[in-house]
Amino acid sequence: MGDPAPAIYARLFAEQPETEALFVRDASGAVRGEMLAVAFQCLLDLDGAYGANFIAAERVNHDAFGVSAEAFARFFPIVRDVCRELLGDDWTPAFDGAWAERLARVGLLTRAEA
Ligand code: HEM
Repeated sequence: MGDPAPAIYARLFAEQPETEALFVRDASGAVRGEMLAVAFQCLLDLDGAYGANFIAAERVNHDAFGVSAEAFARFFPIVRDVCRELLGDDWTPAFDGAWAERLARVGLLTRAEA
């Protein structure tokens, strides 16, 4: 499937146009790449303390630079949707179930009032 980052950020900026300007200093794309890599790590590590704590901390950090908790929470479903589209016929029901389970848990961690 290659690097999904360009398609993921294109989707994010289409859905939340105001977020594109926040990355203005990220000329190389390194910050966007790191952010996506960390988001995947968090999804993979929700059972340990790392993922949940990291998400909780970044939700607050992002609020400080203008990304609301609601906007922050949207990143994960965008990642899932774009990966599903890029994988096409290779997307399986098992992937669907695993993502749904992870997104439900991330949803609890990223609620504005959590
Ligand atoms: C729509 C949702 C999001 C937006 C608009 C957003 C926006 C940004 C922006 C603008 C930066 C660069 C900040 C700077 O100027 O230094 C950044 C960095 C970062 N974001 Fe996000 N973010 C979102 C969601 C997330 C999520 C869900 C995670 C992971 C839990 C995350 C993790 C990070 C990390 C780790 C960095 C630092 C990367 C680095 O500097 O190497 N972000 N984010």
